Amino acid sequence: MVARLIDEVQRCEPDDEKLDDLAQQISQALTVHASIEESMFYPELRDRAEDSEELVDVFEAFTEHDVVKHLISLLNGRRRNKALFKAELQVLGENVKHHVREEESTIFSLARELLDEEELEEIGERAAAEKSRLMSPRRGAAARKKRTTARGQKKTAKKSSTRKSSRRRKSTR
Ligand SMILES: [Fe+2]
Repeated sequence: MVARLIDEVQRCEPDDEKLDDLAQQISQALTVHASIEESMFYPELRDRAEDSEELVDVFEAFTEHDVVKHLISLLNGRRRNKALFKAELQVLGENVKHHVREEESTIFSLARELLDEEELEEIGERAAAEKSRLMSPRRGAAARKKRTTARGQKKTAKKSSTRKSSRRRKSTR
């Protein structure tokens, strides 16, 4: 899914409004991906690695996630410079494609060596459940409601300070 979104980014002009939506979808999918693997999958491989080379492979995957998360963090607030925003999205895309290649070759074959069939299935089931929890619309709605409430509180605070200042103006007249 992310590969398809990344290809769509490539076809957009820097001032295409669609880039915002694509960036948001890519960020959400990658944040969920990283969170699940880092909590359920990579630690198992790290703890069972049989030599330093295997350990390096696992830490490489962790590090690739760190790079992806850093690139996601750059996207926040950069939309004012449209060319820079698209450039950062493209670099994110290139990093993700590299990570997927490494994961599908090195990490998945390491997992098949270090974990048995039952353990792989158990991790897969837990990962699927966590993914649907993190991607659920209710969770998104709750987050939106929280943001709206926070904004509402700011507005109320602003209104009351406006009232105070108009009271002050009246009293100085
Ligand atoms: Fe990953």
